[in-house]
Amino acid sequence: MQPEPVHHRVISWYQDHARDLPWRSEDCTPWGVLVSEVMLQQTPVARVLPRWEEWLRRWPDPQSTAEAPSAEILTVWDRLGYPRRALRLQQAAAAIVERHNGEVPSTREELRALPGIGEYTAAAVACFAFGAPEVVVDTNIRRVHARVFAGDALPGKTYTAAQRRLAHRVFPDPELDDGQFASAWNIAVMELGALVCTARPPKCEQCPLAELCAWRLAGSPPPSEQQRGQ
Ligand code: ADE
Repeated sequence: MQPEPVHHRVISWYQDHARDLPWRSEDCTPWGVLVSEVMLQQTPVARVLPRWEEWLRRWPDPQSTAEAPSAEILTVWDRLGYPRRALRLQQAAAAIVERHNGEVPSTREELRALPGIGEYTAAAVACFAFGAPEVVVDTNIRRVHARVFAGDALPGKTYTAAQRRLAHRVFPDPELDDGQFASAWNIAVMELGALVCTARPPKCEQCPLAELCAWRLAGSPPPSEQQRGQ
């Protein structure tokens, strides 16, 4: 797909409105990005921030994480919830030391093969840490796609095959600009979903896509029973 008004609008909105988060900074390491993605699963940004800072201060790379006592890992993780995620992250660090000489691998396939790294995290780290034009899909992105392209109020609980096809169909051409454009699209759509195209109520008056959004054009119908069951 060639760059389209929708791509340009979202990417330029992101440039003006994105939150300044430390794992998005130019000098964040791939390890910092990986830790952020694992912590951000099921935990809001505000609660992740102090834990992420402390984790990276203590264990700035996979090697130091792999060598840390698990009890300390769990203490720093503390109230982020699902403590098994912390131990899986430590196992991923050990696998990175063993298989990749302590360097976070850059491809989605290698990342996916690490313990505890699922499809989303593998694509997100390949994209956000290495600029790879991988299709990234999380809940926020699914909601934006559902509204803007499918005209649905909410995407529903499960990630369906139709939604996967849609995510690929609307993805910018990965060849364009060395993949940078496609990679920028992922984070921009994610941020739009987090800040503007929120579950309820969305802030359509702030949205760069309001006048092309299929859901708005259909009169913003309320979610169906099934869509609401999330
Ligand atoms: N930036 C990069 N990944 C993110 C995520 N999962 N949540 C919020 N901001 C992010």
